[in-house]
Amino acid sequence: MDNPVLALLSTRRSVKPDLLGPPGPSADEIETILTIAARVPDHKKLAPWRFIVLEGDARARLGEVLAEACAAAEKEPPSDVRLETERKRLLRAPVVVAVVSRTVVHPAAPEWEQILSAGAACFNLCLAANALGYGTSWITEWIAYNAQVCAALGLADNERIAGFVYIGTATARPEERDRPALSDIVTRWHG
Ligand SMILES: Cc1cc2nc3c(=O)[nH]c(=O)nc-3n(C[C@H](O)[C@H](O)[C@H](O)COP(=O)(O)O)c2cc1C
Repeated sequence: MDNPVLALLSTRRSVKPDLLGPPGPSADEIETILTIAARVPDHKKLAPWRFIVLEGDARARLGEVLAEACAAAEKEPPSDVRLETERKRLLRAPVVVAVVSRTVVHPAAPEWEQILSAGAACFNLCLAANALGYGTSWITEWIAYNAQVCAALGLADNERIAGFVYIGTATARPEERDRPALSDIVTRWHG
């Protein structure tokens, strides 16, 4: 496809975190990626999102929090293998960005629209990183919904994790996956 934007959009795929190795984006590239992530439709210009960059040793430090949160949440004490998985969860990619949805009560911009904007920020973040040549994975997993993890990340009561975006260099090219047929999801309204 001649148009590079359409080529990117029509071929992009998520890359599983386990397949995201070094190098990750540089500091300058992270700034570019986050600037583009913040350039999304946003009713009433509330900036209903913010970004927490997890890189270097901070990923392992958050991993310790995940292991503790896992042990506190499970009915049975987790196995050593499970705890090690949690300690290493954020280490799967060189850079992970936690996208935080933050909503306020606003008469013209309902919460729903503010949350949608956070989703758009997640995906713009992915696309910007993809355009720079990096693979990405926008995932949540249990850690996005755990109060202990959210507290460690400093989330306020009006904040939720919209996603953890893992960014790195893809070590394998993902296969195509099925997409819905347009005939199943598109109709034309004729009144
Ligand atoms: C909000 C959100 C949360 C997601 N969380 C997960 C997750 O926890 N685990 C997972 O395997 N995929 C998750 N996904 C799906 C992946 O992001 C990805 O879209 C999918 O695995 C592959 O589709 P793609 O190649 O078209 O992007 C999530 C997607 C969204 C939009």
